[in-house]
Amino acid sequence: MNETKNSPDARARWWQGAVIYQIYPRSFADADGDGIGDLRGIIGHLDHLRGTDDALGVDAIWLSPMYPSPLHDFGYDISDYIDVAPEYGTLADLDALVEACHARGLRFLLDLVPCHTSVDHPWFADSRSSRGSPKRDWYIWADPAVGGGPPSNWTAAFGGGAWEWEPATEQYYLHSFYPEQPDLNWRNPAVADAMADVMRFWFRRGVDGFRVDAIAAAIKDELLRDNPPDRRPHAIPGLGGDAGHDPLWNVNRPEVHDVIRHLRRVAAEFPDRVLVGETYVQVEELASYLGHGADDEFHLAFNFELLLSPWEHRHLTLAIERSEALHPPGALPTYAFSNHDQPRHATRWGPERARAAAFLLLTLRGVAVLYAGEELGMVDADPSDLPHPPFDRAGRDAYRTPMQWDASKHGGFTSGDPWLPLVDPGTRNVGDQRADPGSMLSLYRVLIAARRASSALAHGEHRSLFGVGSDVLAWLREADGERVLVLLNVGDAKQRCDLRRVAATDGEVIVATSARTGRADLADLTLAGLEGVALRLTG
Ligand code: GLC
Ligand code: MG
Repeated sequence: MNETKNSPDARARWWQGAVIYQIYPRSFADADGDGIGDLRGIIGHLDHLRGTDDALGVDAIWLSPMYPSPLHDFGYDISDYIDVAPEYGTLADLDALVEACHARGLRFLLDLVPCHTSVDHPWFADSRSSRGSPKRDWYIWADPAVGGGPPSNWTAAFGGGAWEWEPATEQYYLHSFYPEQPDLNWRNPAVADAMADVMRFWFRRGVDGFRVDAIAAAIKDELLRDNPPDRRPHAIPGLGGDAGHDPLWNVNRPEVHDVIRHLRRVAAEFPDRVLVGETYVQVEELASYLGHGADDEFHLAFNFELLLSPWEHRHLTLAIERSEALHPPGALPTYAFSNHDQPRHATRWGPERARAAAFLLLTLRGVAVLYAGEELGMVDADPSDLPHPPFDRAGRDAYRTPMQWDASKHGGFTSGDPWLPLVDPGTRNVGDQRADPGSMLSLYRVLIAARRASSALAHGEHRSLFGVGSDVLAWLREADGERVLVLLNVGDAKQRCDLRRVAATDGEVIVATSARTGRADLADLTLAGLEGVALRLTG
């Protein structure tokens, strides 16, 4: 079928304009009282997400890894790709969760971690056992450099060199992340086949897709050449290295697109599945991860530039415009403002800006990915409240604290001792916010509902308007004859809007961060500090 991304068919796919909700399984809901979130806990709280009148109304869940793992990287170091870790439940529980999601119209995505396994994975145990092991080439082993030392100067994302010496067989193995996460060798077709089987295993169980972890690091230079000094300007931090070297040879290699095409071909064996790339690359490079046309590479790929932007008008403006301009025609941007790797945005940008941030995330064109708890305005834990030594050596415990369901001491998360302390269940919790129309939770709910009810917001084109007000972000969304004007004052002071360039005189408020409703006169519109308003243009 010669389908293009612009065709009505492509637009009708379930993930177009979707809102995806990320669950960190350890921290969502604990059903068995061991202080650790689990799959039964998630099943018990699906009412929060979809299917009831006061549910958030999201389209899909993405579950961070729930596979068996020795937890050096809290689940992103997997020792068995086709099972569930006992603390989270069983395969039967996972099947029940998928079924419960589908019964209420929620899609269900797992996390696929194709770039590395745990040191405890049987593949690696075999690989490291001898140089002659049949699985030796499933990982990347190399002799010391001429004159001794690691084979190349590549560094790991969490600091230090990317090579670990293995005395038993006198070679180094490569790890782009922690040393307990040896990199798989994607140049070996047996690895590609094995990962395809992993995907099929879950697709057959009804999983609707995968968020694909750390993909830019999947494949490295075959000759293991050293990275040159100095970084590119605007390099995205967090992957591939240190301040001193440009990670040219070990991240974002051209060959990575063959890996993604392989994953895509497997996904295409099943109807309606989606692959969302965790693409820590420059926005200029995102287009290549979205492939050429509708059947190539990722369906969706995270753009982290907005997440990484300071809350300043000129930075936000540029990040939005770069995203719109640099995505290929027909492709949709995918945004998240918080996740398990980054300080929560209510902490980064400040809790007073969280309503404005929610409005921004949910009125931009594309797919919005929420991180459990942001719909309550949750903030990071205070470092002094966290366990020492930390669970995560890279310092991410503060963003992974349990979900706050009610005002009780442990927030209704567990009847036992929570694995991480809760931040402030007395101040922010689902129970209280559900009943309060002015709450953050209610704002997320109405924003998601507005998005669903409006073709323009769900999948309309985006056209930015500049010069509306010094701190005002403004854009038009348009589809099926519906025109929506989105205005967001990112500053604290009120702003009068200059809307002479909008070909309309009146608008009807669809959704706002404030109590504003009804008709608005475009010739006389003043926004309060941090106010966001979406108007359906009428007159
Ligand atoms: C991704 C995950 C992060 C993990 C890393 C290595 O960036 O989101 O949590 O540490 O990959 O797997
Ligand atoms: Mg539990």
